[in-house]
Amino acid sequence: MIRAVAINGSPQMEKGNTALVLASFIQGMTDAGSEVELLYASRLKVKPCSCGVMYCWNDGPGECCIQDDMQLLYPKLKAADVLILATPVYVPLPGDMQNVVNRLMPLIDPKLETRQGRTRARLHEDVNIQKIVLVATSGWREVENCDTVVRVVRELAEDASVEFAGAVLRPHSDAMKVDDKITEDGEAVLDAVRRAGSELVGQGRMSQETLKMISRPLF
Ligand SMILES: Cc1cc2nc3c(=O)[nH]c(=O)nc-3n(C[C@H](O)[C@H](O)[C@H](O)COP(=O)(O)O)c2cc1C
Repeated sequence: MIRAVAINGSPQMEKGNTALVLASFIQGMTDAGSEVELLYASRLKVKPCSCGVMYCWNDGPGECCIQDDMQLLYPKLKAADVLILATPVYVPLPGDMQNVVNRLMPLIDPKLETRQGRTRARLHEDVNIQKIVLVATSGWREVENCDTVVRVVRELAEDASVEFAGAVLRPHSDAMKVDDKITEDGEAVLDAVRRAGSELVGQGRMSQETLKMISRPLF
């Protein structure tokens, strides 16, 4: 069975657009037989990386010296096959989410190698994550508003030498609702998001057709 950890970085947590899209994605994954644990970056107490000297690489490889909720998160991440990072676009990330992303550093083994002209590392052997997926919502209409966030998460995956399994992007996400009710178009988007979750688990990848359907203009 595929085990996933999803981290929702929206300060709006359960009430936000990101939660709406992520809930459908998780539904699709669980329908296809996956187990997904959902956590909220803003509910966890995660401080910014403050040592600034790569303690987790140099002094205590694999260990973070900051004692906060990341210490609860590390074992969950090590056991997961898939990491889902879900976030609103804030050019690029909300602060709590950025803290979590920075604090993933102890999972990375500092044996650096050069691949295709870039310095890359690998996850420690006891970290199981095989794929990283992005789920992002944005306010403005064009899907290109998500480009910076996609770049951040793709870089993270490439730095850690795991597969970037793709991005579920919903620009202009407020347009999925009118007067707080999900529109017909919004329901069609959420159906496609569920399909993307099921495809990821069932086929190991999300189809371009499904991802395009999710990101399509709603006007
Ligand atoms: C501080 C802040 C910065 C934002 N920056 C952008 C942006 O650069 N581009 C964009 O398309 N939307 C931007 N938005 C809109 C959010 O990405 C969008 O409303 C998102 O769906 C909110 O998700 P949530 O309800 O889960 O928090 C911003 C919102 C906030 C609060």
